[in-house]
Amino acid sequence: MAERKYDRRLSIKTVGIREWRDGSSHYNRCESTPYSALDKLFQSYKINKGDRLVDFGCGRGRVLFYIHDRFQIPVTGIEVHDKTYEEALDNKMSYRQRAKHIKAPISIEYGLAEHYEIKAEDNIFYFFNPFSVKIFKKVVNNILKSTKTERRQMDIILYYPMPEYKIFLKKNTPFRLVDKIWVSDSNNNYEKFLIYRFY
Ligand SMILES: C[S@@+](CC[C@H](N)C(=O)[O-])C[C@H]1O[C@@H](n2cnc3c(N)ncnc32)[C@H](O)[C@@H]1O
Repeated sequence: MAERKYDRRLSIKTVGIREWRDGSSHYNRCESTPYSALDKLFQSYKINKGDRLVDFGCGRGRVLFYIHDRFQIPVTGIEVHDKTYEEALDNKMSYRQRAKHIKAPISIEYGLAEHYEIKAEDNIFYFFNPFSVKIFKKVVNNILKSTKTERRQMDIILYYPMPEYKIFLKKNTPFRLVDKIWVSDSNNNYEKFLIYRFY
């Protein structure tokens, strides 16, 4: 299904790229994960009833609404670009009109991903290249610290993974690569999801 058509089905607007005006070297531009990639991911990646997902740098919220609609689990998004955040809230309002029957909460917070306090119930963490590896390290360390209060299995999902992210997870964390999901037959080595797990 084409991007805009899928958006219409969810009553949201998530198509388009937005660059940072000041060209920040740490915070990356807004661009939604393609719906076709999400369809491919969930052909093999299983979401369970008690799961709770956080999208760091949620942009206009496409991943949140897609997952909430399909799996009906609680989702949280963190976004620091003012305008993009406002658009995510607008999307939440229109999406909610058609998804009143889904009780699971949708939370969209304005702020820096590295300042988000990881909740004991959060167990799936989604990243589509939101920021530099320096910020990624802070966020992953926050995720790991949260296991001190509540030890649990946790997954990190990387879409379009950057080598620096992979190296850090492999060398400096207990997260282990458990799956690799290709999204197309192209020769683009980045067009895939990597699933890392902490047991
Ligand atoms: C590539 S987009 C991904 C959007 C969404 N996760 C998706 O896959 O559809 C990255 C988003 O991260 C946001 N971002 C960048 N640095 C951030 C930070 N430190 N804290 C929160 N959001 C950030 C950007 O404004 C942008 O909207």
